Amino acid sequence: MKGMIVYYSKYGSTRAYAELLADKTGWTARAIKTASKKELMDADVLVLASLIRIGKMPIRKWAKSHASALKKKHLIILATGGNPASEKDYYKQNILKNLGFLNLKPEQCFGLGGRKIRAEMKGMDAFMFNMLEKLPAGPEERDDILRDVDHFDPAGLDRVLDYMKDQKLIQKGRE
Ligand SMILES: Cc1cc2nc3c(=O)[nH]c(=O)nc-3n(C[C@H](O)[C@H](O)[C@H](O)COP(=O)(O)O)c2cc1C
Repeated sequence: MKGMIVYYSKYGSTRAYAELLADKTGWTARAIKTASKKELMDADVLVLASLIRIGKMPIRKWAKSHASALKKKHLIILATGGNPASEKDYYKQNILKNLGFLNLKPEQCFGLGGRKIRAEMKGMDAFMFNMLEKLPAGPEERDDILRDVDHFDPAGLDRVLDYMKDQKLIQKGRE
């Protein structure tokens, strides 16, 4: 089947997953701003990949504006966040909350571990984290948010590829 990967990434983890998946499937990966209408129309399968920021997936706006086209595709949703991919329920709930208007089933939704590194943050993110740090230490949530994490792991894509094979979206033996 013909597929395409459309992603929204700020610090590069989601983009790296999208590009790895492009390598493994032979499909094209595009940032939302560069995805052409024709490419979108030609695809039977569409992988939407987005970071999570304060519980929100920024790809939502783009998905809303393309909702009628998207509903005709076999959709797969990937969310990159500051939790390991093993936190499946966290990610599935987040995806359904943000993109539920696409009538998704939980098995189409996958979480991928991202990186949250203070020293790499830019703009509002750096500002927010600096403000948060000035608040008194504890409660636990504050310290959890401030902590650097690196859960980036290409093996997180294995479940996605298995799903694609099960659904016959890609051929067995591809990779
Ligand atoms: C300001 C800010 C808020 C974030 N909020 C969340 C969140 O609510 N849930 C989560 O799982 N990860 C959260 N993260 C972690 C990011 O999703 C993670 O850094 C991810 O790798 C970013 O994707 P990217 O590298 O493709 O830009 C947050 C990161 C930043 C900087």
